[in-house]
Amino acid sequence: MVEESTVTTKDLIFPLFLVDGRHQKIEVSSMPGIFRLSADLMLKEIEECLKLGIKAFDVFPAVEEQHKDKTATKSYDPDFFYLKTLKEIKKQFPEACIMTDVAMDPYSSDGHDGLVKDGKILNDETLEILGRMALAQADTGIEIIGPSDMMDGRVGFLRSTLDKNGFTEVSIMSYTAKYTSGFYNPFREALDSAPKFGDKKTYQMNPANRREALLEAQLDTQEGADFLMVKPALAYLDVIRLLKDNCSLPIAAYNVSGEYSMVKAAHQKGWLDGNRVMHEILLSIKRAGADIILTYFAKEFASASR
Ligand code: PBG
Repeated sequence: MVEESTVTTKDLIFPLFLVDGRHQKIEVSSMPGIFRLSADLMLKEIEECLKLGIKAFDVFPAVEEQHKDKTATKSYDPDFFYLKTLKEIKKQFPEACIMTDVAMDPYSSDGHDGLVKDGKILNDETLEILGRMALAQADTGIEIIGPSDMMDGRVGFLRSTLDKNGFTEVSIMSYTAKYTSGFYNPFREALDSAPKFGDKKTYQMNPANRREALLEAQLDTQEGADFLMVKPALAYLDVIRLLKDNCSLPIAAYNVSGEYSMVKAAHQKGWLDGNRVMHEILLSIKRAGADIILTYFAKEFASASR
């Protein structure tokens, strides 16, 4: 009766990694229990998860090097496996809420979220590409687009692009406060998407900053975001609380790959009880103020809650 926070399966979004081909199930070595799946197996995975009560999924593509280029052409090619699979998922499971990723890095030969010229990321030129990508994704029937690229002004740009093309019902979950972080490395292994040079410090946020997160949240709200996200979650619980106390939009937190890997590694060594700390971690993110949690623990949590 007096418990103040609760985590339920309904709060969770499960990130999934998609690869081209058939019968592919390749474990991400730094993320035990998490696999890159081809479309056929991803459909099975989604079916299983729906039965466990997970209703929302964030699908990321792992793209082969030969399909990457400077301008991320494959990101808006309707015949490319990512967009084709999204369509198939929505056809088979209309009740599943599907979120997609808007950023250039999986398709970029530079491994950056934006367009690179002479070693610099070009903000405004990137928006045009993100717009094409978002439209192609919206066209598959998905519900939420997730701009994870951190270009300035992209939420407003994507909202008006979507609206002008009739996709007024597609929501935007903005990566509002996405910090430059060492906790993303396992994800970059999963997608083979590490930057080929430099780092992402010119577009992702400085971990030292809190007030800037509030500014980003105000801008995203004005630009038409439907959700505000903080990422990573655990080292930024204060930022989650800050946004919760100052914004009216739903707050999401991304419990990122490195946060998952740490728990799994320590559990494998017998240094801590993985199941117990999973519950404690998810609860702490809820307690900090997140309404929604993107987490690789989603399936494990849902199975344990049965
Ligand atoms: C890139 C992107 C990243 C993640 C989601 N989208 C990595 C990065 O910014 O380099 C990280 C997710 C995770 O670590 O679980 N657009």
